Order: sequence, then C-alpha cells, then structure tokens
Amino acid sequence: MFYKTILKPIFFRIHPEHMHALVLVLGEVCGALPPVRWVLSRIYGYRGPDIAKVVDCVRYERPVLLSAGFDCDARLTRVLGSLSFGGEEVGSVTALPCEGNPKPRQTRLIRNKSLIIFKGLRNQGAVKTIKKLLRTKRAPGYVVGISIAATNSAAVSTDEAALQDYLDTYRKMNEAGVGDYYTINISCPNSFCGKDGETFASPRLLPKLIAGMQQIPTTKPVYFKMPINLAWPEFDELLQIIDKSPYQGVIIGNLNKDYSQLDHPEDAPKVYRGGLSGKPCFAISNDLIARTRQAYGKRFTIIGVGGIFSGQDALAKFRAGADLVQLITGMVFEGPGLMKEVCQAYAGEYGALQK
Ligand SMILES: Cc1cc2nc3c(=O)[nH]c(=O)nc-3n(C[C@H](O)[C@H](O)[C@H](O)COP(=O)(O)O)c2cc1C
Repeated sequence: MFYKTILKPIFFRIHPEHMHALVLVLGEVCGALPPVRWVLSRIYGYRGPDIAKVVDCVRYERPVLLSAGFDCDARLTRVLGSLSFGGEEVGSVTALPCEGNPKPRQTRLIRNKSLIIFKGLRNQGAVKTIKKLLRTKRAPGYVVGISIAATNSAAVSTDEAALQDYLDTYRKMNEAGVGDYYTINISCPNSFCGKDGETFASPRLLPKLIAGMQQIPTTKPVYFKMPINLAWPEFDELLQIIDKSPYQGVIIGNLNKDYSQLDHPEDAPKVYRGGLSGKPCFAISNDLIARTRQAYGKRFTIIGVGGIFSGQDALAKFRAGADLVQLITGMVFEGPGLMKEVCQAYAGEYGALQK
C-alpha cells in the first residue's frame, strides 16, 4: 500500500528512463549495505514453507526471477534477494558496449498496464559485465542467469556478423565461468538485426546459431528467449529446432509487438516505437507455455514471463506449465512487495508438494 499510495504517484511523475536509472543507483547502494539489505528483507522477504526448487541442476531458493533488461549491467545482484527474488537474468549482454536506440527508450502506458520498450540492447558489453560479476559477491543461493544478444549496431547488421557476436559473448561467458545459466535472446524486437523481423528466431538462422554454440563447451543450462508474436505452427517450428539441440529449454517470452492487443490502443504511438511489456504479454505467453508443455511434455524447461501483476497471475503461468517465472513490469506497477506475494501464492499451491 505504501508503494502504491505514496511512492508510485511520485515515481510515475518522473520520466521512466530516469526513474529506471535512479532505481539502479539506489539498488546498487542498498545492496552494498548489509543493514539496509536486512531491513528490506524484513519487510519484503518471503518467510514461509520451503519453496526452493532445483531446475536443470540449479537450485532456486524462490521460483521468481527478475527478467532480462532491467539489470542489464549486473548492478542489483546483491539487493534483489532481499525482495524475495530467487535470482535474476542479467543483460541482455552483447559482445560490444552499446548505447541503444535513440530516445525515448521507455514509455509508460498506464491504463494499459504496459511499458513500450525501445531500449535497443543498451548495455556496457560482455567484458565489463564479466568483470563486474567476478568482483561482486552475491548472496548464497541467489541465481544469476545471463541473457546474450547480438550487438545492436550497424557494424553487426549482417547475419554472419550477428552470429559471430552471439558466439563471442557466449564463449567469453563460458570461459570466465560466470552465470548459473545462459539465455540466448533470439527475439529482441528492437535491434538492428530485429528491425525486419526477429532474425535469429528464424528457422533458417537458428540452426546455424545452435551449431556454432555446440562448438563451445558449457556446463551451464541454456535457454532460448522466444518471440510471442508468432502463430503456433511457426513457434512450433522453432521448438522443433531447439528440441533437436542439447539445450534445456525456453523462456516464453519476449515483448509483444502488436499494439492492437492493448486495452487502449489509442494510447500507443501510431508507428511502431518498441515492444510492449506487461499486460499485453500475459494471455499470449500463457497460451504458448501451455501449448509447449502439452506438445513436448517434460522435454523443455519452461520459464514463464509476461504480465505478472499478482500472485494469481504467477500461478496462471505455473498452472500452464512454467517451471519458474520472471517479471519486470508488475514490479514497476505494483511495487517491491509483488515478489513476496508471488512466493506466498506459490507456497499456497505447491508448498506441500515440494517437501
Ligand atoms: C525495461 C525493459 C528492458 C528489457 N530489455 C530486455 C532485454 O534486454 N532482453 C530481453 O530478453 N528482454 C528484455 N525485456 C523483456 C522482458 O525481459 C520481459 O520478457 C517482458 O518485459 C515481459 O515481462 P513483464 O511483463 O513482466 O515485464 C525488457 C523489458 C523491459 C521492461
């Protein structure tokens, strides 16, 4: 209540990108101060039945993670555990540092419970992120996944250059041994190679990427971040390719590119200015999660993401077949108590089964 009645009205007067930057600074400072972490965990930390879960040999103390894109440069790894997150996905990280797209890169669509994201893979690049991860001592049991994408620049606009860029980052991460799992973001809707579609979410290119990755040994689970604006047959075509690979699973899914799916499409720009997060992702991702689970049984680990604003929303993803869930926009709209609510809802439904 404190967040929604006092803080949110103030925060929502500040430009979303400035607010995001402020949260990163505050989060990094709070994470460095053990007494602040303790206070935060007293307020926002989940305490209840054991809901730890082992997925692909990685143990998650809590089954809710921060999704990729909020903590691109790994600045919040010490604080988020205090807010009931079991981990986070850092990135998307690219081989070269990247300024991202021209502003505005984030827009709030308040009535639609959504953000328009046009960040364009803004991040400090693989080398700096690896250094940051190596020198940051994170809480025991806090999982860090790393999302990998191709550098968003004119120099990396051909298929071959983008392929090598992905592989370069993937190799560096594996050699440095950082991260508990890797996600290959094949579906960024806002990058150079994504402008005319989602280049590596293509049945022509995905096998080449997978073949390249197989030349690089890994001991970590690997997931693919899926697009959500594909009809089932096209989505399934990508799943069939991943099914033939040695990799563990899929994250369903990325931003929604279709402004007509907003509750109030008139609030959106007339021309495409980035993908939609939040509510417009909810039903569509749930449907794809359920179909994937139904069609492939236990073959894939499924991480469900898109439009979680309550414990019940998270349960809808678990019931559809997700093993873990991720979120961003719900935290922005509902506040830092959301993850505890998700954990409590999960404990209510699955807590007894875990034991
Ligand atoms: C500010 C912001 C930046 C994002 N950047 C990335 C990114 O770099 N890589 C990625 O795979 N997804 C990115 N996403 C998509 C989210 O990871 C997630 O798939 C999407 O927002 C749906 O979840 P939500 O409704 O809980 O926000 C971004 C989302 C937001 C809100």
